Amino acid sequence: MGTVDLSVYRKDFPMLDGKTMNGHPLVYFDNAATTLKPRKVIDTVLKYYEEETTNVERGDSALSALVSAKYENVRKIIAKFIGCDPEEVVYTSGATGALNLLAEGYGMKFLSEGNVILTTEEEHASNLLPWFRVCERTGAKMRYIPLTEEGRVTEENVRSSMDEHVKIVTLAGVSNVLGYEAPLKGIADIAHEYGAVFAVDGAQAVPHFELNMKEMGIDFLSFSSHKMCGPSGAGVLYGRKELLEKMDPANLGGGSNARFDRYGKIILREVPDKFEAGTQPIEGILGMGAAAEYLMEIGMDKIHAYEKELRDYLVKRMEELPNVKVYNPDAETGIVTFNVEGVFPQDAGSYLSSRGIALRSGQHCAKILPDFLKVPGTVRASLYFYNTKEECDTLIEALKTCTVENAVDIFI
Ligand SMILES: Cc1ncc(COP(=O)(O)O)c(C=O)c1O
Repeated sequence: MGTVDLSVYRKDFPMLDGKTMNGHPLVYFDNAATTLKPRKVIDTVLKYYEEETTNVERGDSALSALVSAKYENVRKIIAKFIGCDPEEVVYTSGATGALNLLAEGYGMKFLSEGNVILTTEEEHASNLLPWFRVCERTGAKMRYIPLTEEGRVTEENVRSSMDEHVKIVTLAGVSNVLGYEAPLKGIADIAHEYGAVFAVDGAQAVPHFELNMKEMGIDFLSFSSHKMCGPSGAGVLYGRKELLEKMDPANLGGGSNARFDRYGKIILREVPDKFEAGTQPIEGILGMGAAAEYLMEIGMDKIHAYEKELRDYLVKRMEELPNVKVYNPDAETGIVTFNVEGVFPQDAGSYLSSRGIALRSGQHCAKILPDFLKVPGTVRASLYFYNTKEECDTLIEALKTCTVENAVDIFI
C-alpha cells in the first residue's frame, strides 16, 4: 500500500491465518481494545511455560538466574523503546495498574487542599477515577482543559488552564475515542514552567509511534503490553527517577523490601523494585519485551506512517457513504470513530460482527466525552499495522447495508 507496505507482517499473526467470524474472514478492527499477538510473543510466553517455569529474583537455581536475567533485560528493552533508563521502568499489571500506582503513590502523598489536577474530558476512566479518589481523600480538585471544537487538546488551551495551583497535568497521549495526538513536548514544557509534573496516559500512544521520555520531558508514562502486541496482565509505569524515589508504593510485600523487623520498621528496596511487591506476571513481562523488540524491528515511524495512510483511506471511503458520520476525520492515528445514521451504535457493532468485522461501540470507557460529542455513543474502528485496504473495503461494503432493518434482523 502506498509509500510503506507492512502487509508482509500479517504472516506473523496466527489470528490472521484464515480465522473466520460468523462465517466471514475475520476483519480485526478492535486494536484500541487489544491487539493481536505475533508468533514471536506467543513463542516467548510458551517457552516460559514449557521450558523456563520458575520464579524470578528469588531462587538460587541456575534456571531462576537465567529467567531473572531475561526478566530484568526487558527493562532495558522497554527503556530503549521509550527513551529512558532501565531503573525508571516499573512493571505493573497494565495502564490501569500504572495509573492507580501513580495516583496512590504520588497523588495521595503530594497533593492537598488547594491543589489542582489538570486533565481533559476525553480521558479514559482509568485516568480519571484514580484521580477522583485522590481529590476525595486529599481535598485537591480536578480541572478540565477546554477542548477545541474538534475535540483536541492544544498547547494554548493547556496554557490558559494553568496556574500555580496545578500540581499534575495528566492526559492521554492519544485519545482512545477521537484518536488525536496531544502535543506532548509542548505540554511538558508548559507544565514545568508552572512547577507541575506531566503524566501521560500512553495506552493508545506507545503502541503507535515513537516516544522518547528524555527528549520530550515527560515525567510519568503508563501503558499496557496487550495493546502493543504483547500479552495481557503486564504493563509499565515509567517515572523520572527522582520522582519515583519520592513516591510511595501502592503495594507492600515480598520482593519490594530490603528488610523489616517485628516492630513494623520496613526498609524498602531501591526503585524500581520497591514498587513491585509480590510475584509479577513473569510470562507477560517476557512477552512484553518480545513485543517491544518486534515493534522496534518493524520501526515505529513506519507503523505510524502506514496507519495514517490506512486511516485516511478508510475515512475517505466512509465519507462517500451518505449514512455514515465520522467524528474525527483528521486524526493522526488509526482510530476512526463514527455513527451510522439511524442505527444505535451497539446494533451497528453487532451487525458488522455478523459480517466478520470486530470493532467496538458505546462510550469506550470515556464517559464524559459523549456530552462533548453530543451523542450517546459511537462505533470505533481502530486499525493497526497489520490491517489492509482490502479490510477497509470490507467494512465499507458492510456499512452500505447497515440499516436499522438489517441491524435488527440479526437478532431475530
Ligand atoms: C487511553 C486509555 N487509557 C487507559 C486504558 C486502560 O488500559 P488497560 O485496560 O489495559 O489497563 C485504556 C484502555 O482501553 C485506554 O484506551
